[in-house]
Amino acid sequence: MLQLKDVESGYDESMVLRDVSIKVKQNQVICILGRNGVGKSTLIKTIMGVLKVQGGTIAFEDKELTKASATIRSKAGIGYVPQGREIFTTLTVYENLLLGFESNPNKNKEIINKVYKYFPVLQEMKNRNGGDLSGGQQQQLAIGRALIAEPKLLLLDEPAEGIQPNIVEDIQNVILDLKNETKTSMVLVEQDLGFAKAVGDYFYVIDRGTVVFEGSELIDEKVEKHLSI
Ligand SMILES: Nc1ncnc2c1ncn2[C@@H]1O[C@H](COP(=O)(O)OP(=O)(O)OP(=O)(O)O)[C@@H](O)[C@H]1O
Ligand SMILES: [Mg+2]
Repeated sequence: MLQLKDVESGYDESMVLRDVSIKVKQNQVICILGRNGVGKSTLIKTIMGVLKVQGGTIAFEDKELTKASATIRSKAGIGYVPQGREIFTTLTVYENLLLGFESNPNKNKEIINKVYKYFPVLQEMKNRNGGDLSGGQQQQLAIGRALIAEPKLLLLDEPAEGIQPNIVEDIQNVILDLKNETKTSMVLVEQDLGFAKAVGDYFYVIDRGTVVFEGSELIDEKVEKHLSI
């Protein structure tokens, strides 16, 4: 459903990604692994359209999206949970969730209850400000907001980073539930190998802006020199 061919992208003068080709099928969770600074977030931002493609093509559900804006991509069904969460600290939890409807043509409020089922703490704290939440709770809110949009493809940039283990486990279970109960596809950036192996169907390892390994199993001898393990 998503296909990147020979994508090049980066910032102003500095090209970060070179010849990146990636495929995501419906209901598949693919994991992007790699050390700090190799271009994982750059890749996610390029898929979302936050960064412009400098070369190559991006297609989503057989439609060419290479030059489409982030708004068009989110309306097409791509959801994004950025690294470092980026929720609105002065809006309530409920107001943060409502923002997810902006990219959902189906405004059925029932989806909020589904999100509360995934993350009960968001219901308990729905009238509190986003800024009152712990880091892990903010991450749940960021994921919850993305789910309100009912994306066909969900991009998650290091959702477990700096978060307490029990919340990481909750997030892992939600990803598995989405995989089992819906047709959602996901692109997950993750440095935690255990997490990646628990949810991933297919893996890409990136080093210095290029794909250096891909496969449905992570072969330790082939990937360890590209990861911090
Ligand atoms: N806004 C920016 N302007 C210029 N260069 C940037 C910008 N953001 C990132 N870079 C550079 O692009 C390269 C890739 O960064 P990116 O954020 O994609 O790495 P990453 O793999 O996500 O790292 P991390 O694991 O630390 O999140 C790095 O060299 C980084 O310094
Ligand atoms: Mg990053």
